[in-house]
Amino acid sequence: MSHSAMPSFDLLHKQITAVLADPATTHGLARTLRAAAREIELHRYHRASRRAWSSGRIDAQPSKVQIGGGAHRIDGFFNIDAVPPADLLWDIREGVPLQNNSVTEIFSEHFLEHIDYPHSVKNYVREAHRVLLQGGRIITGVPDAAFALSRYPGPLDAASNEMIERWYAKRDCYGDINTQLDLVNLVLRDQDDDLKYTPHLWAYDHEKLVQLFTEAGFAGVEPWTFDPAMANPKRRWGSVYVVAMK
Ligand SMILES: C[S@@+](CC[C@H](N)C(=O)[O-])C[C@H]1O[C@@H](n2cnc3c(N)ncnc32)[C@H](O)[C@@H]1O
Repeated sequence: MSHSAMPSFDLLHKQITAVLADPATTHGLARTLRAAAREIELHRYHRASRRAWSSGRIDAQPSKVQIGGGAHRIDGFFNIDAVPPADLLWDIREGVPLQNNSVTEIFSEHFLEHIDYPHSVKNYVREAHRVLLQGGRIITGVPDAAFALSRYPGPLDAASNEMIERWYAKRDCYGDINTQLDLVNLVLRDQDDDLKYTPHLWAYDHEKLVQLFTEAGFAGVEPWTFDPAMANPKRRWGSVYVVAMK
């Protein structure tokens, strides 16, 4: 490809911004373009890190790593996320940028449901197995689909109202959770029309987490007891966590 034919992500981003600003742009096209703009942003961050680490593996060998921690930092953990703030900006769908058998502990919560299943999820779990030392462990927390489904079928009740209050009261969708199934939909899909939230792409329960880590070769997968010294306290309610040992 000649230099002039190289794709320009900056130009693409500008064009998308212009189309989104046009009031004539249809709702459907705007949704798709917002998602594309988001991917371009992730691509830019990832590309910059990939230039620095062309092998796809960084030189540093952190012992403890948090994936997709967002603004929630854990003392002593190296943070990898697709967007700032993080110690390394990396799109985990492209692999885990760490050396083989180098990590003692990986932690993630409310991350897995944001990457596509099966391609990226199964690749991530295999990659986690590759980078962990023998005896190392990976702790994973996700919104508990079994919990979300436990009130369905049935009318909205006190427990479902608590779920709405705890998870969604600050969102535009509050008035649109009109039935129990609306609540299930929101938990399984999240809110793909609101730029502040990235949609959920797959739902998990304890059984599915055990299956995923077992398939990737982990020796044992157990429930993880919530530890607020590591986990984000706001995730305690309605989440399921497991710890898998290599
Ligand atoms: C819902 S937030 C959870 C943040 C934090 N773990 C917590 O519980 O408060 C999901 C996080 O996963 C990150 N994330 C989503 N997709 C990612 C990807 N492909 N690679 C790396 N990080 C990703 C997001 O940037 C965000 O920080």
